[in-house]
Amino acid sequence: DKGGHKHFMAKEIAEQPGVLGQALQHYLGTDSEIHLPGAGLDFAGIERITMVACGTAFYACLTAKYWFEQIARIPVEVDVASEYRYREPPITKGTLAIFVSQSGETADTLAALRYCAGKAEKIASVVNVPESSIARESDVALPIYAGVEVGVASTKAFTCQLTVLFMLVLKAARDRGVLDAGTLDSHVQALRGLPSIINQALEQNAAMRDTAYKLSTARDVLFLGRGQMYPLALEGALKLKEISYIHAEAYASGELKHGPIALVDEEVPVIVMAPRDALFDKTVSNMQEVMARKGKVILISDARGLSEASQGVWSSIEMPEIPDALAPILYALPAQLLAYHTAVAKGTDVDQPRNLAKSVTVE
Ligand code: F6R
Repeated sequence: DKGGHKHFMAKEIAEQPGVLGQALQHYLGTDSEIHLPGAGLDFAGIERITMVACGTAFYACLTAKYWFEQIARIPVEVDVASEYRYREPPITKGTLAIFVSQSGETADTLAALRYCAGKAEKIASVVNVPESSIARESDVALPIYAGVEVGVASTKAFTCQLTVLFMLVLKAARDRGVLDAGTLDSHVQALRGLPSIINQALEQNAAMRDTAYKLSTARDVLFLGRGQMYPLALEGALKLKEISYIHAEAYASGELKHGPIALVDEEVPVIVMAPRDALFDKTVSNMQEVMARKGKVILISDARGLSEASQGVWSSIEMPEIPDALAPILYALPAQLLAYHTAVAKGTDVDQPRNLAKSVTVE
């Protein structure tokens, strides 16, 4: 049942404020502390984290790496499961291995988990299907409460993965004594405000549709982001490729001049994801290098960012203001909606893109 929407993907995008609220409710108590289900996890003895996943779930891991390192001060290594499983990486004691998977059945992710079993200190998983193989074979399974996801392109599962991972980071930081109660409280307040901010982003749907129409005739599209927005650029490019079949690549903004800028000409839209955070000026200077080569910039930022930097851009999309740390969750929305409307404009099969399966249970 598409609940009045034209596609499951549209329905699942629209469901995000509600399901994120569910996820928050399961992990936030009446106090400000984070409560993990079951036996939980104690990060006091954890020295490093290895995160393994595929596709969109891998990008959730990449985002979480920024959070774990900055907020909880734990070194994190992230890898795609198909590489990790055959590399025979040494696993030191004190390693927490985290596997992220919507379906909980992805063959490579499951194989990577089995490789870590008996070697890592603890095996945790972040899953949407609690009875899945990955959940069952973990010491701790953390559900994301996204509900059934039908569209092949992952949307609500991604934002729920990010939200649960962010709460896990807060728990880790508390256990390790690197997050005072006041700062924890402000993060928790920010989380509680997330569903309504996501709702505001959904109200920009028409602006995203208009921009998507302009994108739909492009042959190649670049996505740029810096810091914790880099994985979001990757996610935006993946969404666009998957459902609109437009060739899209993402780069960390600072990498632009090390090669990809050679691709930029007046035909290439360059989507810049840049909330007005501490790295904004750096990203904007990369964006100006694109404009100097006549690239068609689509700037996605907040009111402050747009007022400072939108002069001369091809198109802009305004996101609501959000506390810096949570910006990746919010900026998933334009990544999803731009891809969605571009695919609709092109008339592709949004929910069942060619050559793709919802759950990749063979390697
Ligand atoms: C992209 C997408 C895929 C999955 C990947 C992992 O929109 O849906 O990249 O994220 O196949 O699947 P799970 O999370 O089920 O392990």
